[in-house]
Amino acid sequence: MHRKIVFLIVTSLTTFACTQRETPAPIDDSSLARDYFTFADTDRFVTDHLDLNLTVNFESEQLHGSATLTMRRIDPDAAEIVLDTRDLTIENASFSSNSGESVGADFRLGQTHDVMGTPLIVSIPPALHTEPDIVLTLQYRTSPQATALQWLPPELTAGGEHPFLFSQSQAIHARSWVPLQDTPAVRITYNATIRTPPELLAVMSANNDPGAERDGIYEFEMPQRIPSYLLALAVGNIYFAPIGEQTGVYSEPETLEASAFEFADTQTMLETAETMFGPYQWGRYDLLILPPSFPFGGMENPRLSFLTPSLLAGDRSLVAVVAHELAHSWSGNLVTNATWRDGWLNEGWTSYLESRLMEVIYSKERAAEENVLGYRELLLDFEVVNPVLQALAPPFETGDPDDFQGTIHYHKGNLFLQYLENAVGREAFDEFIGRYFNDFAFGTITSEVFLDYLDEKLLSLPESKVNRAQAEQWLYKPGLPDDALIPSSDTLDQAAAMAVTWSSGEIDITDIPVSDWSPQAMMHFINSLDADLSTEKLGELDVALGFSDTRNAEIGRTWFIQVAQRQYRPAYEKLEQHLRRYGRTRLVRPVYKALAENGSDLELAREMFARARSMYHPLTIASIELVFKRAEENDG
Ligand code: BES
Ligand code: ZN
Repeated sequence: MHRKIVFLIVTSLTTFACTQRETPAPIDDSSLARDYFTFADTDRFVTDHLDLNLTVNFESEQLHGSATLTMRRIDPDAAEIVLDTRDLTIENASFSSNSGESVGADFRLGQTHDVMGTPLIVSIPPALHTEPDIVLTLQYRTSPQATALQWLPPELTAGGEHPFLFSQSQAIHARSWVPLQDTPAVRITYNATIRTPPELLAVMSANNDPGAERDGIYEFEMPQRIPSYLLALAVGNIYFAPIGEQTGVYSEPETLEASAFEFADTQTMLETAETMFGPYQWGRYDLLILPPSFPFGGMENPRLSFLTPSLLAGDRSLVAVVAHELAHSWSGNLVTNATWRDGWLNEGWTSYLESRLMEVIYSKERAAEENVLGYRELLLDFEVVNPVLQALAPPFETGDPDDFQGTIHYHKGNLFLQYLENAVGREAFDEFIGRYFNDFAFGTITSEVFLDYLDEKLLSLPESKVNRAQAEQWLYKPGLPDDALIPSSDTLDQAAAMAVTWSSGEIDITDIPVSDWSPQAMMHFINSLDADLSTEKLGELDVALGFSDTRNAEIGRTWFIQVAQRQYRPAYEKLEQHLRRYGRTRLVRPVYKALAENGSDLELAREMFARARSMYHPLTIASIELVFKRAEENDG
């Protein structure tokens, strides 16, 4: 099939000084729904169901077994099937005919691509050419380097006695543990049988049974259709504690009680979300707390969000991540971006819904504070992301879908939806939200399908203050439109003002009302300190407010970025402790970056990284190595 290259080729998150504003290339309709990050030819076959039968081998760090794909024929003439794989060893391929017997099939691997992996091409035996559905079974094993899987030795778990395995399939890593059509445009149901060492428990993005017998054989069923990036598995010394009727938490026993406390509001969040966004379609909603190397804050695996243990601050101050992952049960998991270029439909919508949930469950002020912090991150991203990629729906054909435009999909997407809410009023917008999730439930859509729907259902209302051209500006232009609503928070404004008056010596440290402040206000205070604060003043601050010893990972992140940028060496030992305590990329990468770019500490940053490296996830390692590479290029 002919593939049209219509856009500028733009690569990854770049250090692009965006003084000039480039006008994006015009949108060519023929390319809109095309997923550039899959080999699968979904014009010929579409998968409906997956049966997995896998054994988990911690000694060889491999999964082995079979995947059976039930596929629907779209093209009556197709004689081959192309699937995505990465580092998989395919041992055998066979089809089941209608009469139930198995027919061996020829298969070969195509050329490997750095980002996309390796296409697997299976020939369909002539006898099956006329069948409408086909059932293909692949025997295979994964590589210890599978990009979706992290195999942790006992030392890197909370308990220190049992190994742990977890997957992270988004964006295009499912193909490294299952041969399949790895594109969000295809939705499948799945069943799985997972064999583990008998003392361990397996959980999946499926119908986990809190009372499952621990015997090393676990059966799963996922009756709702999901895109491949939501396939998920974890195996370890995992136990369960209930939170509410439909909700609970899985973790190692060492963190179970703390987790049940931290996330106690999850059932309320779920019930609140249902009243606002429509019925929760997935049955149970549980949380899995992973070891520290889990590279993200959270991952919205259906029925079982995966979470970093760095959220265990002891005061529920970081649970916006849970609100976020829960909200993905609507935005993302129920209505899915058709390609990664449309990722704002997942992440922007989810950031907006997260904020709405935080407002109802906690307070308007709390939601406003988090919006201001997100806005600040957005401004920082606008400084470094290529303008072409600053559009919500950018042209995006090359590069890596895991990391191409920072947090623009999140925070710009959130501001776009706040803008739309403002255009018609909250009541009308809430009605729109419910209809949207209902009309597109279990579907995948592009930004353009959304735009047409928005136009028809909302912008064409006589009371709408926004027209289609204004919406298009958000989708296709860099930066923010002039009439965007900028988030603000009184409590954060006060904290920023205190940072200024304290920096200039007008007030004493004991005059700062920190006991009234939220952790978010504290972070904003740290970000607002005068750029040339003396070492003495920084020391005074650290002693009085205890930043270097904080239990709150986000305050630690904020503080140690400043410590590194300002070369405040007395806190370097604590900074290194921070880098070794957490593995979440967001918490460590910017600290390495600040060190690497402060003009003196690139070597030191490398040494600290060498000491911490073995506890990080491969994705985290890769992104830190990129920081060093760029810092070096800028140096020389
Ligand atoms: N789906 C994302 C995580 C993700 C994004 C994995 C892109 C792979 C590729 C998840 O829902 C997420 O957004 N996590 C955030 C949470 C935060 C924005 C509240 C994170 O991990 O920081
Ligand atoms: Zn998300």
